[in-house]
Amino acid sequence: MAAMAPFNGIAKGGSRTVLITGVSKGLGRALALEMAKRGHTVIGCSRTQEQLNSLQSEFPNLDNHLFLSVDVKSNSSVEELARVVAEKNGVPDIVGI
Ligand SMILES: NC(=O)c1ccc[n+]([C@@H]2O[C@H](COP(=O)([O-])OP(=O)(O)OC[C@H]3O[C@@H](n4cnc5c(N)ncnc54)[C@H](OP(=O)(O)O)[C@@H]3O)[C@@H](O)[C@H]2O)c1
Repeated sequence: MAAMAPFNGIAKGGSRTVLITGVSKGLGRALALEMAKRGHTVIGCSRTQEQLNSLQSEFPNLDNHLFLSVDVKSNSSVEELARVVAEKNGVPDIVGI
């Protein structure tokens, strides 16, 4: 089996587009804020709109990022996420689930 290359792309500079599910609290929220701090574009999703609103208020350059209410257990909701992201950002460089 071929050895996997170590993942270090995000530390090497250059802005990436990062899709993060479960973004409104906990690990997802911390990851989203850190990725934005490092200059990356964040596409974040979770179900509760009020919590997404609260998170968005912490992003200084909100226009660079995209937050969507999505239930990852719903096929139609995930399909809508894929459609909107493809239209606005193209294919994300990194997906954090
Ligand atoms: N905390 C730890 O130390 C730790 C360690 C190892 C692994 N993990 C794993 O890492 C993940 C996150 O942990 P956490 O502690 O950060 O959890 P958390 O604080 O409960 O956050 C979960 C996030 O997922 C969202 N979410 C839940 N169900 C969803 C759904 N159906 N569709 C879309 N979004 C959904 C929640 O927002 P809404 O409710 O608004 O959708 C919330 O933003 C979990 O899978 C956990 O098992 C955690």
